[in-house]
Amino acid sequence: MMWSNDYKDMLESNVPLADKTWFKLGGDARWLACPRTTGDLADICKRAAGDGLSVRALGRGANVLVRDDGFDGLVIRLDAPCFKTIRFDGDKVHVGGGVDLMDLAHQTSRKGLAGLDVLAGIPGSVGGAIRMNAGGRHGQIGDVVVSVTLVDLDGQTQTVAHDALAFDYRSSAVGRRIVVSAILQLRKEDPELTLDRFHRVWTDKKASQPLAEKSAGCIFKNPPGHSAGALIDQAGLKGTRVGNASISDVHANFIVADRATRSSDILTLIDIVRERVHDRFGIDLELEIDVW
Ligand code: EPU
Repeated sequence: MMWSNDYKDMLESNVPLADKTWFKLGGDARWLACPRTTGDLADICKRAAGDGLSVRALGRGANVLVRDDGFDGLVIRLDAPCFKTIRFDGDKVHVGGGVDLMDLAHQTSRKGLAGLDVLAGIPGSVGGAIRMNAGGRHGQIGDVVVSVTLVDLDGQTQTVAHDALAFDYRSSAVGRRIVVSAILQLRKEDPELTLDRFHRVWTDKKASQPLAEKSAGCIFKNPPGHSAGALIDQAGLKGTRVGNASISDVHANFIVADRATRSSDILTLIDIVRERVHDRFGIDLELEIDVW
């Protein structure tokens, strides 16, 4: 029997993904599942992967570009209440993978728990942020992770400690496993200080990045010793346009998408940038965003 028949109440087919991503672009997911428990999640992953489907977790869609013809597989969203819990335990916090990172950073900052304040202005779910070790100049989420509970595509659940997660610049060992929950170690301090830092980091970000426009944050990783934004800027590419997508005039590592942009326009711009930066500096830019 088709795996999908067993999960009818948690599953939809041919679901538009555009409104679920920051870029607001791209086609449909063949399947979208919102499991209610970790057990359901493990079952669905195992059955779908066993049927040969590609499986992806979608957080807040802050770092994903969906192609125009959509994603021919199963997309999982951790929207059920059990994946959205936040429990404080002294200076630790136990948090579900589906929690919004900005909400969490704001809540912990208000309580005088430092560590996530430095991530102010970074959109995403806790799970997505951990997977890519989201961060910026002031810190990265991996710095505060004690352990993470993951479900893999064989339906196995395991808890992995910080050292086995291999946090590195915008990467970790999470891979295609799904972050169900995490324990974060924060630091008690005067709430006024933490909240003030949260606001300063955010203001700093708003001043240097086109946060009001449709984008997916930085498109490329910074190559070792360089800023991708500075390289793209020096290659004279700010303002370059393909269709309705353009390289931001505010920060050159952002592609901003007007209405009616196609994902293919963004992909063409990405190719142009890579080619020009390679020709000019001999440096190959690596994508930071995930293309589905
Ligand atoms: N610069 C330019 N032109 C530009 C953009 C930047 O000359 O168009 C120069 C800046 O003036 C600065 C240098 O490049 O001298 C570095 O720029 P910035 O301080 O903006 O930092 P970044 O390296 O471009 C990184 C992260 C951001 C994060 C910021 C601030 C990456 C790829 N980018 O940007 O993260 O917000 O630091 O902490 O790691 C993201 O991950 O989506 C992201 C935006």
